[in-house]
Amino acid sequence: MLIQNILVTGGCGFIGSEFIRQQLRLPETTTIVNLDKLTYAGNLENLATFRSHPRYVFHRGDITDRDCVETLLSRYAIDAVVNFAAESHVDRSLQNSAPFVNTNVVGTQVLLDASRNAKVSRFLQVSTDEVYGSLGATGFFVEETSIAPNSPYSASKAAADMLVRAYQHSFGFPAIITRCSDNYGPYQFPEKLLPLFITNLLANQSVPVYGSGQNVRDWIHVSDHCRGIDAALRHGRPGEIYLFGGRTEKTNLEITHLLLKLLDKPTALIRYVADRLGHDNRYAVDCSKSERELGWRPEVTFEQGIQETIDWYRQNSAWVANVKSGDYLDYYARQYRQDNTLTGSSAKCAASLSFA
Ligand code: NAD
Ligand code: DAU
Repeated sequence: MLIQNILVTGGCGFIGSEFIRQQLRLPETTTIVNLDKLTYAGNLENLATFRSHPRYVFHRGDITDRDCVETLLSRYAIDAVVNFAAESHVDRSLQNSAPFVNTNVVGTQVLLDASRNAKVSRFLQVSTDEVYGSLGATGFFVEETSIAPNSPYSASKAAADMLVRAYQHSFGFPAIITRCSDNYGPYQFPEKLLPLFITNLLANQSVPVYGSGQNVRDWIHVSDHCRGIDAALRHGRPGEIYLFGGRTEKTNLEITHLLLKLLDKPTALIRYVADRLGHDNRYAVDCSKSERELGWRPEVTFEQGIQETIDWYRQNSAWVANVKSGDYLDYYARQYRQDNTLTGSSAKCAASLSFA
C-alpha cells in the first residue's frame, strides 16, 4: 500500500533507529516523523548522519502525551504509525515495572486512540515473541500460540497487544502486530546480552552469565527484523499477526564461548551470577507465515552478523564510552553486585552444565 508520512515512535532506540536508517535509504518518498522521549535508551547519535535529511523530522516527546501525539498526527498528515517506543529490558522490569506499564500499555492506548481519531490507514505494533512465555526443549512459537508472559516487561507488551487486538476487533481499526525474537546488531544499548558481553570483553572485563547459561534464544539481525516490519506495514493484512525470527537458536553459553573465541579472550572472564527471576527457558520462532505471505526471509547469517557487530562496537568506542557512563554505571552496579556471583559448588554446577 502507498504510504506517505510515517510516525515512528521510539526511533532513537536500537531497532527504531535501524528502521529509520533503512527507510531513509529507500528510494521511496515517505517522510519519517520520529517521536522519542529520549530515555536512557534513546540516543540522538544513532541517527546523527540523517539529522538534516529532507524526509526526516525529529520531535522529542512522550507517547503518553495525547496532545503531543495528536499534534504530530495532524501537522504531518500521518497515514501510518509504527510503534517501537517501549521500555524494553526484562531485568529493569524486574527492578521497577511502573515505567513499563506507563509507556508500553498507557502509551500504546494513547497512540491507538489518537491514531483512530486521525483515521490513519495503518498502525503497526512492534511486539515480541516473549508474550508467548517459555518453550521446553522442542517446538516453536506460531502466531496462534497462547499468550503467557512471564516477566513484567512481557506482560506489559502482551497487554498492549491485547489493546491493539481489541481496537481492530471493535472498531475495524487497521492494525497489524509483529512479534520478533532477540535482535542483535549495531547501536544496541549495552544492557542486553550481546552488546554487554562484546563491550565488556573488548575492555577485558568479565561477562555475567545468568544461572547455568543453558537458556536458549533465537537470534535475528536487526536489519532483517526491520525489513520484516517494512514488509508487514506495506503488504500485511490488517488484523493479522506476523512473526519474525532468525532460525538461529543458541544457548547463552554457546554465544559466550563464541564471543571469547572471536575476541581471543580467556574463559576466565566468564562470571556465573545468580539467575534472572522467572528466567524463560527457550524461545524459538516459526516464521513461515511471514515468509509465505510477506515474501520476507532473514538474510544475514549469524556468523556474518556477529562478526560485523563486534567490528562495529570495536570501531565505535566513543559511542560505547558515552553510553556506558552516568546512570548506566549505577544500573550496572545494582544489577551485577559482587554478592551475586556464584561461587563454589553452584559455579561448578553451572560450568559443568555448559559442557553437558
Ligand atoms: P530500546 O530500549 O533500544 O529503545 C526504545 C526507544 O523508545 C528509546 O529510543 C526510548 O527513548 C523510546 N521511548 C521509551 N519510552 C518512550 C515514551 N514514553 N515515549 C516516546 N519514546 C519512548 O528498544 P529496542 O530494543 O529498540 O526495541 C524497540 C521495540 O521492539 C520495543 O517495542 C520492543 O518491545 C520491541 N522488540 C525488541 C526486541 C529486541 O530484541 N530488542 C525484539 C522484539 C521486539
Ligand atoms: O525475544 C525478544 C526479546 O529479546 C525482546 O522483546 C526484548 O526487548 C529483548 O531485550 C530480548 O529479551 P531477552 O531477555 O531475551 O534479552 P537479554 O539480552 O536481556 O537476554 C538474553 C539472554 O541472556 C537471556 O537468557 C538472559 C541472558 N543474560 C542476559 C544478560 C543481560 C545473561 O546471561 N546475562 C546478562 O547479563
